[in-house]
Amino acid sequence: MTNFSPHYQSLLTRFETYLERAFPHLAPEVAILEESVRYSLLAGGKRLRPILLLCVVEAGQGEIDNALPFAAAVEFIHCYSLIHDDLPCMDDDDLRRGKPTNHIKFGEDIALLAGDALLSEAFHLISAPERLKDYPAERLLAAIHCLAKKAGNFGMVAGQVADIGAAQSRGSKELLEFIHHHKTGQLIVASLEMGAILAGLNDHARDAICHFGEALGRCFQIQDDILDETGDPTKLGKPVGSDQKNQKLTYPSLFGLEESARLAEEAYQEALTYLAKTGLPQEPLQALADFVLKRRH
Ligand code: IPE
Ligand code: IPE
Ligand code: MG
Ligand code: MG
Ligand code: MG
Repeated sequence: MTNFSPHYQSLLTRFETYLERAFPHLAPEVAILEESVRYSLLAGGKRLRPILLLCVVEAGQGEIDNALPFAAAVEFIHCYSLIHDDLPCMDDDDLRRGKPTNHIKFGEDIALLAGDALLSEAFHLISAPERLKDYPAERLLAAIHCLAKKAGNFGMVAGQVADIGAAQSRGSKELLEFIHHHKTGQLIVASLEMGAILAGLNDHARDAICHFGEALGRCFQIQDDILDETGDPTKLGKPVGSDQKNQKLTYPSLFGLEESARLAEEAYQEALTYLAKTGLPQEPLQALADFVLKRRH
């Protein structure tokens, strides 16, 4: 996301600066864990989820600095999901964010534990008592609950399980939608919804922002599936052909590339319709949606 406005760039810089020191320094005995986490976490990445969160906070006139731990927490969970997703027992991929995957570099045992550490640290960070200086307790609890729900059994983990179960099957549109809604959509919704909670938006705006996120998440994962067939690995920073190798149920495998592109556009249009209903300033969330549709990485 390099060709965005100076405004976007400044949010990204603030986030990256915070992220750099958000994961704690660990005891020398476990230096390998810190090294492994930092290897994957600070390897670039588009930072779409934290930026979505911060954009909602900003649109709702909330305080960006106070929201940075929550933006980092969602990136921690996303990063853990990538490390585990690449493991030999899952997608068995060897390139991520332009570098050898975590298990290639550190071994499967440390990669597994780096993911575990990121997941726990996400909640350690946002449940720290000093957050109460920035937010009322009920907002904090709602934001933590939202992330926990959408990262786990009712979100990303459920989607990853269904993704494995659907491989090598003929599948159906309903199953494919279930997978994408959960494995990718729910962390994107969580990012936006946490932003809405922290900014104290009303229920109507919060609902609309969640619907925006569901459609945006669908658009995002359809593009991910398309890029797995048509992308350039040097731009993507990850391999192409992973889905075919694993006989995954994807939009192109079920619908073909052309129809997949049309469905991505349809999801994008749906996202914009919901964005308009939030009552928030449309920029820069609309610019992020444009990026999700048109991205090549
Ligand atoms: C990749 O996510 C995993 C999916 C949910 C498709 P991203 O494409 O956002 O990965 P990074 O964070 O930019 O590396
Ligand atoms: C995985 O989807 C989404 C996650 C929850 C990590 P993919 O398996 O398609 O993601 P990539 O293509 O490896 O990034
Ligand atoms: Mg996968
Ligand atoms: Mg994968
Ligand atoms: Mg993919």
